[in-house]
Amino acid sequence: MYQRIAVTAGLLVSTFTQHAVAVDKTRDPDMVANLVTAATQLDRLSVLCSDKDWLFDFTVQQPNYNFAPGGVINMNAATFPAAKGNGMTLAMLNLGPCSMLPPHYHPRASNYVVAIKGNTTTYMFEENGARLVTEILTPGKATIFPAASMHMMVNNGCDDAQLVSALNADDAGTQNVGNVFTNGFPSELVDAAFGQSMAGAAAAAKMIPVGTGSNWGTAECMKRCGVTPTTS
Ligand SMILES: *[C@@H]1O[C@H](CO)[C@@H](O)[C@H](O)[C@H]1NC(C)=O
Repeated sequence: MYQRIAVTAGLLVSTFTQHAVAVDKTRDPDMVANLVTAATQLDRLSVLCSDKDWLFDFTVQQPNYNFAPGGVINMNAATFPAAKGNGMTLAMLNLGPCSMLPPHYHPRASNYVVAIKGNTTTYMFEENGARLVTEILTPGKATIFPAASMHMMVNNGCDDAQLVSALNADDAGTQNVGNVFTNGFPSELVDAAFGQSMAGAAAAAKMIPVGTGSNWGTAECMKRCGVTPTTS
């Protein structure tokens, strides 16, 4: 019963935020520009003149904060000017029951991930010829996805999972792999490369948009946990 209530609460948040997108828009380009041209750290401090300029809140008012299916919230140069020039992104990964982060990579950063809640399975391929590395992250357990490695993760449980992710760039970037094949590469070439199966109009129509960063996982899990998918 508790499960159902948690999922319903998540759905409400998700409905409210269904136009959220995982691509971070720069929230205060003028402040970032002033930080970039500041000569000294003291000059930066006068740009970040209020204490509130030093506080980032990962919780509910962030557009991607939900657990149905979930979302990725980045504290980076785009979302938090004070991060500009500090060489790091801190991210909160929310994965509701049965949700996943689809296969993706970060072009400009290595990625450390530690679980603080739930039970999340991670999968990582570093490059052609590399073996698949699989880990189960329960609270306190962490793994590393080296820069540009392909990785994905799934919460196969019926409880929420939450993880904290640290990346060594303030603009790490994220590329979802599936979307590459349906977002503009010539479809006849993609089909030739991947056995005529990846890029046709039918595949493009079915490709899950980048959305909040999270997708729903397997039908088996959704059935086992009694989760009804929503669009996000
Ligand atoms: C986490 O989930 C996996 C299956 O995905 C299971 O094998 C494992 O026992 C779970 N771990 C805990 C601590 O519940």
